[in-house]
Amino acid sequence: MVGLVGPGPDTTATTTATTTEDPGDGRDARQPRGSRYVASHVTKAFNGAEVLHDVSIVLEPGSVHSLLGENGAGKSTLFKIMSGLYEPDAGELVLGDERLHGLTPRSALQQGIYLVPQEPTLMAHLSAAENLYVGALPRHGRTRLVDWKRIGRESVSYFTRVGLDIDIETPARNLSIAQQQLLECARALVHNCQVILFDEPTSPLTPHEVDVLFELVDGLRSDGLALGFISHRLDEVISISDQVTVLRDGRFVMNAPRGGYTRDELVTAMIGRPIGVRTRVRRSSDVTDRREILRVEDLAAPPTFTDISFTLRKHEVTGLAGLVGSGRTEIAEAIFGLRKADRGKVVLDGVPLTHRTPRECIDAGLIYLPEDRARNGIFGEVDIGRNVTAGIIPHLPRRWHLIRTDRETLLAAGATARTAVHMQALGSSINTLSGGNQQRAMISRWLLAEPKVAIFDEPTRGVDVGAKDDIYDIVADLATSGLACLVISSDLEELTLICDRVLVIYEGRIVGEVEGDDVTTARLGQLVVEGAM
Ligand SMILES: Nc1ncnc2c1ncn2[C@@H]1O[C@H](COP(=O)(O)OP(=O)(O)O)[C@@H](O)[C@H]1O
Ligand SMILES: [Mg+2]
Repeated sequence: MVGLVGPGPDTTATTTATTTEDPGDGRDARQPRGSRYVASHVTKAFNGAEVLHDVSIVLEPGSVHSLLGENGAGKSTLFKIMSGLYEPDAGELVLGDERLHGLTPRSALQQGIYLVPQEPTLMAHLSAAENLYVGALPRHGRTRLVDWKRIGRESVSYFTRVGLDIDIETPARNLSIAQQQLLECARALVHNCQVILFDEPTSPLTPHEVDVLFELVDGLRSDGLALGFISHRLDEVISISDQVTVLRDGRFVMNAPRGGYTRDELVTAMIGRPIGVRTRVRRSSDVTDRREILRVEDLAAPPTFTDISFTLRKHEVTGLAGLVGSGRTEIAEAIFGLRKADRGKVVLDGVPLTHRTPRECIDAGLIYLPEDRARNGIFGEVDIGRNVTAGIIPHLPRRWHLIRTDRETLLAAGATARTAVHMQALGSSINTLSGGNQQRAMISRWLLAEPKVAIFDEPTRGVDVGAKDDIYDIVADLATSGLACLVISSDLEELTLICDRVLVIYEGRIVGEVEGDDVTTARLGQLVVEGAM
């Protein structure tokens, strides 16, 4: 049973399933293991922007509950609230029978709640054993001196328990990320925690390290702990979770127990669109000149993206699909000279563009329409005409250094006609235009540079539905006129409608290329979310 966009899981009951019996293996049993931990109707805003809205989650003892969602969905924020790092604006946290008010990281730890953060936060210069006991150094009863003997003895057993095979004197800075994470888990055990929250623990790990971690998580589950787990890797989530909750844009979308969902349902819940509904609209393509015009070779800026190689051809629309945060925008920015790549090559029609400035890229025939037009591209207070010619100001016809405004107006009029900007007059402020028409105006700006390649980053985001089709037409027209277009979009359906070919980016790598009739939302959805089929 899958509850799609419902009121959320039932969080009203406050029954506890505490196991009070001794674990029986000599472990310290100061606190009973395994209380139910509930975050209920949590809302949180940063600087007025709501990033969590009325989200609830129930962590049951002896069970792994995963949070799924695209980057920015609010997963980390929820776990940070549940571990006292952030204070919620509304909602409550209930551990067992107890309402936790004004939770801080310290009081969370006292309650037995531990967050294994996305980036381990060990003290680099302290030894593994010292890190294990930070904030909880065992002391001799009478003298209150630190009991180093006990630390030596017990840290070995904690490390063994989490599968960490290291010398306890090793400085934390010499540990691998995987080892640091296991050490964090061991810390949670030292504090006798009953709730452990893992924030994307597997992202930096090798497959073998993931296996080791999962074995540990399995063990903690058998011990009755309540475990929260964040990952955006579906396979991992499906294999480890007793329950899955999906967030999107800070909202609860779905919750289901193990076996109570299909892979497709998870994908749809994460990216928000039913997959495989519409079929692709073909662009007329009786063009024969499909000459390669842009070549990207081994472009890399780890850890953001790496091994990026592809070519763009004249008359073709190529899509770049991927989750938010997969590296698509960063790749485009690197191609356009807005961001430095560590290695790799970009060649435009035989001209090397590597390490060029955006200005030089434009002059060579490459244009880039950034995602956030309002911030990056549009001069809001300036009139439409000047907004359109802004990209070629150094090249505008001049007399005595002064721009010949009559010529400028002519150019702007020609360009806005080409993209059919609906406006009162070229002299009106660009702020008077609708989102779609602003987009058209921006495209006309770049057409004045007579580009060979156009990169569009989320061209229809924030554009009203009616204007979307217009933008699709513009892209198609540009391709028909001989440009190579690269379209970055999170809207898979959009990609299926306008692209001849789609490259899929997953965690900074190209993991698939889909062409022709294979360009379907179902196929793209799987690749985008899972990185492979
Ligand atoms: N401390 C903060 N200040 C301002 N905005 C934040 C802060 N932490 C997170 N955000 C914003 O909240 C949203 C959700 O972030 P996060 O919880 O980290 O998402 P996820 O872990 O699902 O990728 C993002 O838009 C992020 O930019
Ligand atoms: Mg996160």
